[in-house]
Amino acid sequence: MVTAQTPTNLSVIKYWGKRDEKLVLPINESISVTFDPAHLCTTTTVAVSPSFQQDRMWLNKKEISLDGARYQNCLREIRARANDYEDEKKGIKISKNDWQNLHVHIDSYNNFPTAAGLASSASDFACLVFSLAKLMNVQEDNGRLSAIARQGSGSACRSLFGGFVKWVMGKEEDGSDSIAVPLVDEKHWDELVIIIAVVSSRQKETSSTSGMRETVVTSALIEHRAKEVVPKRIIQMEEAIQNRDFPTFAQLTCSESNQFHAVCLDTSPPIFYMNDTSHRIISCVEKWNRAEGTPQVAYTFDAGPNAVLIARNRKAAALMLQRLLFHFPPNSDTNLDSYVIGDKSILKDAGIQDLNDVEALPPPPEIKDKVPAQKCKGNIP
Ligand code: DP6
Repeated sequence: MVTAQTPTNLSVIKYWGKRDEKLVLPINESISVTFDPAHLCTTTTVAVSPSFQQDRMWLNKKEISLDGARYQNCLREIRARANDYEDEKKGIKISKNDWQNLHVHIDSYNNFPTAAGLASSASDFACLVFSLAKLMNVQEDNGRLSAIARQGSGSACRSLFGGFVKWVMGKEEDGSDSIAVPLVDEKHWDELVIIIAVVSSRQKETSSTSGMRETVVTSALIEHRAKEVVPKRIIQMEEAIQNRDFPTFAQLTCSESNQFHAVCLDTSPPIFYMNDTSHRIISCVEKWNRAEGTPQVAYTFDAGPNAVLIARNRKAAALMLQRLLFHFPPNSDTNLDSYVIGDKSILKDAGIQDLNDVEALPPPPEIKDKVPAQKCKGNIP
């Protein structure tokens, strides 16, 4: 039995579009940052026993089918690389070939708050592949394992490393060189703080898989993006990360998010992942950044309306939180403790202990002139 933990990741240069659906090969490279496992991660336990009749998996305590091609591809690829395993003390001996006939049970759960409305396929597949590889004594490094996780879900390959990670497109037809590589580890730029503003916890209407398929077939802009725009941004983003250059990082991150949603709009029929609240958050960040003269926060939105806000440091994160609570205060009957979840220490930095503090928040200076004198109390739609 083996247990492993893998955090999810957030892309700052977006993966959107495949050149090979079966092998999950992308049309452009992407870059992501891996979350702190304490907050958003998958924990997977895999076990093997001669008494197991078939491969089975439970996700968040509910049994799910392993029949899909993506699960089957991961299981097959890991089994193909299995090695002899021996534990003399326990009297266990499994030979390389035995793994082909032995079945596994997989128990996986996400520590994502249920209200987070975040996709977990990246950490799910990364953790599945990693834990199975350890169980079956696979000797390959995380880069090679990322090429297997990729076949479960493209973005999963980037979760095999911490810090900032690049998914290299690769050239080989079999996808063997389309792998994740670490750019810098998690300590390199640890001032950054991520706030996720949950706009909706409903499941998205168009999955990433089908959305990107439709974009590749119908968008006139996607080819230009993949061939001309992303390669240049990858170079600029790598440099910004190396130099901890927040203004360039923020400018690229926001432009990437906006261009990704532009190609979604350019898809036929158009895909709308963001909603009015997402747009209000964007304009709040844009106004604030412009007023400061230099970016304090970068925003990015994936295949849904939730805003992921990357603050340059704790101070900027606290100021961002104040702005979010000013624009989107909880109802007076809502408990602040369940409204803001995760690492609450930023709330303290923002000087907010209870709903009275939220109500007392002054309008942010950048919008002062435009706000009516009487602030509406309670639930702002
Ligand atoms: C918008 O990895 O979920 O989050 O490979 O079809 O499983 P599949 O898609 P998935 O797509 C993620 C898309 C994205 C951008 C990104 O993570 O880079």
